[in-house]
Amino acid sequence: MSFNYYMPTRVKCGNGISKETGELIKELGISKVLIVTDRGVRSANLLDGIENSLLTSHVDYEIFDEVERNPSADTIRKGTKYFKQYNCHAVMAVGGGSAIDTAKAIAVMAVNPGDIIDYEGVEKIEVHPLPIVAIPTTAGTGSETTNSTVITNKETSFKFGVLSSYLFSDLAILDPALTLQLPQEITAATGMDALTHAIESYTSKAANPVSQGYAIQAIKLIVEHLPKAYFRGTDLVSREKMLVAAMLAGVAFSQSRLGNVHAISHTLGGVFNIPHGIANAALLPFVMNFNLPACAEQYKDIAIALGVDVSNLTKMEAAQKAIEVVINMNKSMNIPLNIKDLGVSLQALPKLVEDSMRSGNVLINPRLTKAADIGSIIENAFYGNLEINGIRREVSVY
Ligand SMILES: [Fe+2]
Repeated sequence: MSFNYYMPTRVKCGNGISKETGELIKELGISKVLIVTDRGVRSANLLDGIENSLLTSHVDYEIFDEVERNPSADTIRKGTKYFKQYNCHAVMAVGGGSAIDTAKAIAVMAVNPGDIIDYEGVEKIEVHPLPIVAIPTTAGTGSETTNSTVITNKETSFKFGVLSSYLFSDLAILDPALTLQLPQEITAATGMDALTHAIESYTSKAANPVSQGYAIQAIKLIVEHLPKAYFRGTDLVSREKMLVAAMLAGVAFSQSRLGNVHAISHTLGGVFNIPHGIANAALLPFVMNFNLPACAEQYKDIAIALGVDVSNLTKMEAAQKAIEVVINMNKSMNIPLNIKDLGVSLQALPKLVEDSMRSGNVLINPRLTKAADIGSIIENAFYGNLEINGIRREVSVY
C-alpha cells in the first residue's frame, strides 16, 4: 500500500477561543488582515469578540462582507481588489464554507496572475497564497482543513473546484460559541454536508488508512451530536463535537477527495443556487444506493459507526441499514427526500449530467460511473425512488 498524507493546518479548538484570535494572528507575523465574511455573520454580532481581540493585540484589519451563497468568481474579483486596495497581508474567513472558500480564493488571487477561473483543477496555483486563517461559524464545510475551494462561474452556471496543497489554511480556530445561534435548518444542512464528506471520503477510491480513520471518527460524532445540536441548539458540547467532526471530515476528504454526491450537488448549486448541504443530504441516499454493489463492506463499517447493530445481518443488509439511517436523519430534520422539492427541473438534465461528469469526484467514486448513471441517479433523486434488489420503493417509506 502506498499513500501520501499531508495536512499542515494548525487547529485550535475551545469554547471562547476566538477571543484569542489577535494573539494567534500575531504569532503568524501578520499585522494587517482582511476579514472575509457575510452580512448575516456581521448582524449576528459574531465578529465582536474577534474584532476586540484584534484591537487589543494591535492587529489592523479591514472587513469584506459581500460573501454570498455559492460564492461567484465576481465576488472573488471584488474581494481581491479590496484586499489590494487596503494593503492587507493575510485573509481571515469568519463564516461558513462560502466565506472560507472566498477567503482562500482571494488569498490566491492576491499574488497570482489572471483570474480565479484559470485555476480550475488540480495543482494549478504557482505562487503560494498569502496566509489564510479560518474561523468557521457553521459545523459542516470542513474547508478550514481542506486543500480546496469551490467557486461558481455565473456566466456558465458552473461550480468549479480549485485543488492545491497551497490551499490548506495556516490556522483554523474552532469556537463552538460562534455556532450556538445557528438556525435549525442550517445546523441540519451543514451537519449533513459533514456526514456526506465523511461517507464519500471513507468509500473513495483514493482513501487511505489515515483518511479513513478521520472519516469514521467524524461519522461517530455526527450521528451522536447532530440530532442534539439540531433539537437543542444551545447544547455547547454537541456544538463543539460537531465542529470537531466537520473538521475531521475535512481532513479526511482533503486526502481522499469525495464522490458522486458532490459531483452532482456542485452542479445543482451552480444551476439552481441550491444550498450545498441540503443538496448533498437529499442526494446522499440515492448515490449510496447506486454505490452499494461496489462498497458494501465499507457501508457495513459505516453502519456500525452510525450505531447499527449488525450482528444478525448479512453484509448487504448491514450496508442497506446505513442508507436507512441517512434517510431517517434527513426525515427527522425536515430535509426534503427528493430534489424536486429543492426546485430542480429535469429539463436541465443534459446540462446537469454534463457538468457533473466534469467533476474529478466522479473518477474516484467507488463504483465506476458513466454519464447515463449520473442521469439515472438524478432522475431517481428527483422522483424519490430507491431501487433495491430490483424493487422500486419511495424513500418516504423508510
Ligand atoms: Fe461539501
